[in-house]
Amino acid sequence: MDLLNELESLVPELERGIGQAFSLAELEELRVTFLGRKGRLAQIMTRLPSLSPEERPAVGQKANAIKNSLTEIFDARKAALEAEKEAAQLARFDASLPGRAPWGGSLHPTTLVQEEICGIFQKLGYDIAVGPEVENDYYNFEALNMPPEHPARDMQDTLYITEKVLMRTHTSPMQVRTMLARKPPLAVVVPGKVYRRDSDLTHTPMFHQVEGLMVGENVSFAHLRGTLTAFLRGVFGAKTQVRFRPSFFPFTEPSAEVDISCCMCGGKGHHSNGEPCRVCKTTGWVEILGCGMIDPAVFEAVGYDPKTISGFAFGLGMERIAMLKYGIGDLRMFFENDVRFLSQFV
Ligand code: DAH
Repeated sequence: MDLLNELESLVPELERGIGQAFSLAELEELRVTFLGRKGRLAQIMTRLPSLSPEERPAVGQKANAIKNSLTEIFDARKAALEAEKEAAQLARFDASLPGRAPWGGSLHPTTLVQEEICGIFQKLGYDIAVGPEVENDYYNFEALNMPPEHPARDMQDTLYITEKVLMRTHTSPMQVRTMLARKPPLAVVVPGKVYRRDSDLTHTPMFHQVEGLMVGENVSFAHLRGTLTAFLRGVFGAKTQVRFRPSFFPFTEPSAEVDISCCMCGGKGHHSNGEPCRVCKTTGWVEILGCGMIDPAVFEAVGYDPKTISGFAFGLGMERIAMLKYGIGDLRMFFENDVRFLSQFV
């Protein structure tokens, strides 16, 4: 009989369809197609009245059985798909994974060094001062005992804006500005950017310096030595050796350059594996700053009496300090702002 055959064929048809239903939505479509109010089963049953009364009970029973079978197949597949979905969700969530720390940010090594240097001098009673990066020739050169023909003014080194206005080539002009603005005794440190027409592996057109200045009655070279030794041991460690070499700067007399024992090889000139130390070029010493007793000509320029007032000054490059302190081999890293580099300084 046609109707019975049609009813029976529904089961394998649904099974085939279900094999291709991979989502709950597809499964729901199948359910509507087979079991819905206008679905395949319902449509077959609309033809029940065309059968003779004797035939109807058997077909009716068959229809019920088929309906149950279809529902069972459908429910089993639905449960399986739901279980799959849940497993996929669990697979994406691993409660045993460690949490992700929030992005913390970090300070630039130059900033760290600046804060450390200023911190040490603040503890010694120094004030912090800052000055203009665009500076007058007078403060940058002339008042610092570098008259118009002085070689340091060479266009090769200085970035000029006009004939008399320039980008400061060092922080030393703040010595002049500070002394003009205040009365001794005074002690200041001046961190800031400086500019030079220089660009190669070891020079950048902008870099950072710190200037130091102490002025009063009876300020001596011994004070300078003691102060700088304490400062350098504060930055590089208590075992650091410090030596002063005679040198020349126009604005100090006498002048000195200061070396510290090389912090890369411990002052030995060689590493423990016998390799020569490239940082100190095997000398065991690295130059770290310039300093001296303030030249009488500078005191005269600011109206101080060199007979009753004395003082010392020093200047150093912050990138150089950071390179030695943190073992940074390449100056360019300071200016590339590569986060992989910067985020190491916390
Ligand atoms: N201004 C010098 C420079 O840029 C560094 C310096 C040397 C500063 C000696 C000083 C000093 O105050 O006394 O090279």
